[in-house]
Amino acid sequence: MNRIDDLLAAMTLEEKLGQLTMVSAHLTPLGPCLDRTSLAEIEAGRAGSVLNLWGVERTRDAQRRAVEGSRLGIPLLFGFDVLHGHRTIFPIPLAEAAAFDPALWEATARTAAEEAVSEGVALTFAPMLDVSRDPRWGRIAESPGEDPWLAAQFARAKVHGFQGAQGAPGAHRFGATAKHFVAYGAVTAGRDYAAIDISDRTLYDVYLPPFQAAVEAGVNAIMPAFVNLAGIPMSANRRLLQECVRRRWGFDGVIVSDYQAVAELVVQGVAADLAEAAALALHAGIDIDMVGGAYLAGMPEALARGLVDIELVDTAVRRVLSLKQRLALFDAPYVPEVNANRSPGTQARTLAREAARRSLVLLSNPAAVLPLSTSVTRIAVIGPHGDARDQMLGPWSGAGRARDTVSVLDGLRAALPHCDVGFMRGVDLDGDGLDDIRAARNACRHAQVIVLCVGEGVDMAGEGASRACPGLPGRQPALAEAVLDLGKPVIVLLFCGRPLSVTRLIERAAAVLVAWFPGSEAGHAIADVLVGRHNPSARLPVSWPRDVGQVPVFYAALPSGRPADPRNRYTSQYLDLPVEPLYCFGHGLSYTRFCYSHLRVRHTELRAGDALVADVAVRNDGPRDGEETVLLFTHDLVATLARPVLELKAMARVRLAAGEQRTVTLSVGVDALGFRDGDWRPLLEPGEFEVLVGPRADRAACLRTTVRVVAGS
Ligand code: NOJ
Repeated sequence: MNRIDDLLAAMTLEEKLGQLTMVSAHLTPLGPCLDRTSLAEIEAGRAGSVLNLWGVERTRDAQRRAVEGSRLGIPLLFGFDVLHGHRTIFPIPLAEAAAFDPALWEATARTAAEEAVSEGVALTFAPMLDVSRDPRWGRIAESPGEDPWLAAQFARAKVHGFQGAQGAPGAHRFGATAKHFVAYGAVTAGRDYAAIDISDRTLYDVYLPPFQAAVEAGVNAIMPAFVNLAGIPMSANRRLLQECVRRRWGFDGVIVSDYQAVAELVVQGVAADLAEAAALALHAGIDIDMVGGAYLAGMPEALARGLVDIELVDTAVRRVLSLKQRLALFDAPYVPEVNANRSPGTQARTLAREAARRSLVLLSNPAAVLPLSTSVTRIAVIGPHGDARDQMLGPWSGAGRARDTVSVLDGLRAALPHCDVGFMRGVDLDGDGLDDIRAARNACRHAQVIVLCVGEGVDMAGEGASRACPGLPGRQPALAEAVLDLGKPVIVLLFCGRPLSVTRLIERAAAVLVAWFPGSEAGHAIADVLVGRHNPSARLPVSWPRDVGQVPVFYAALPSGRPADPRNRYTSQYLDLPVEPLYCFGHGLSYTRFCYSHLRVRHTELRAGDALVADVAVRNDGPRDGEETVLLFTHDLVATLARPVLELKAMARVRLAAGEQRTVTLSVGVDALGFRDGDWRPLLEPGEFEVLVGPRADRAACLRTTVRVVAGS
């Protein structure tokens, strides 16, 4: 018998349910702590894991209660939302996605994991893989954006980064959780926690692929969304959790519920009481009940009523103990004391700066006001985000601290020591408290350039942060207009966790840089881009609407029988706005220009199992060295199901010196041109496919050729 069998044989029902129960720490002014009841539960073996507790002393103390104080001495598992950094905070996931760079995504996850492990955390609730096409939904900030293929690359990179490559030193000390399974991004009207109703087709094509990629990458855990999909709450969704995730994909890791989601099955109207809720969730495959205590309170009664068998409980306990074993918690339950005074190294800060500058998207720069000319000696930084360290980290900022963060003002002053860089806040982020608009205008009087730092607050992005009108909150529009009316060049820095509806501001500004929430090194990274030390290369991972009325707007739409034609109102369009977003997926400017030519596919006839290989020449036609992301889209022209007008299938990045030209090669497995049939089986139909290669999801900006699949699957 192995350790897990021995433990299982020795456990009481209460101890088994304890292993399936996660309790939560509370935040106090001094940080997180466990209350007396939770500590007693740990000693009684009624809690197997803890949410939101980190720190050497705190985790060691709680762990001691489990290992030395509980009857069986099973170590605790500490779980925490380490989404984009633990102490050193990287850009929010939506921003990082804009780098289109799997190596970067993996590197930041690795550093986050190392920092979190050094403070006792063993499991993160990340990566968040919800394809997001609705900027009203605050959680778009946590996501890799609108595209399923990009999200799948993100999934792989993050799982490898968090968990470590197989066999690498330090691997297996940290587990990742792919969340929120599935289609949470499609909540009705972008309202958090609302129900979802989408077709199986959309589920297969859009929402499932990133999760499948995470499972293929070996993710340790999956968290179902706490919303209902077509009437079935995901925490009780046997078809998707058991049939799809466990049976088809072969996932044998842990499924951890979202916060109180098992107990919420009662509120969602599918369980009459906690016994029914516990039974539904366990049958769906949920191993850990995160907070809410539904398993502890409801399972004994569910067993007594015959709603579940004890074997099902044992299977879940086995999975939880296996995860603890895989994360080496039985062998080394305590984080070493020597970690207590360790602070993040400079390497992490360097990576944070690099990640942030690679995430900043230059939306517009029509008169080339950026990079700033060396003749600029007087700059006015204006707006509520101008010197707001606490606003730079974004939602889910782990154990990151505002005091370790670089503001825009700090960054610009450090980058331009001989420049006069003034600051005036002007207005509050939200509400109408502060009204210093006149003073802000005065502060601009002698400036040659104004850097206007506006956007939404950290608390307006992330969970529970849906916005019906995602524009500039409070008095910020008035501040922006007043500053723009001065007639001086205004560089707008937009801080946001989503595309904002700020079309008028964008049209009036001399340049617009989307800063998102850039993390600990915000100010330095922004300054690097403004002064031209870094040539921007990031691209929008999500379409940027002109107005919230266009939402959801995304590039991979299915073709209409009546495509938009401005001369014909009986086509698919609006009377009052163009159908296209203001900026499409993949948009993002550089300080140089790239030209594409000579697109060629190596084989025009392809069979299942082949690779579609395309070569394209890319030339840096501008004055500076730069980096270009090349995207390859396909379009299945005729199929038994209408297919999206464009689908991203490959990407490549190339660094080119000014004037340099290179051939970039992109490769796609031909099977990836197919789709899933109604039984989730891969299907590749013979026929003609367009291949489009360019910088963004815009036919006019891409080169085009065709290939023919002559033998499908
Ligand atoms: C609720 C959120 O939906 C989920 O993403 C998070 O991991 C848990 N709370 C734990 O904080």
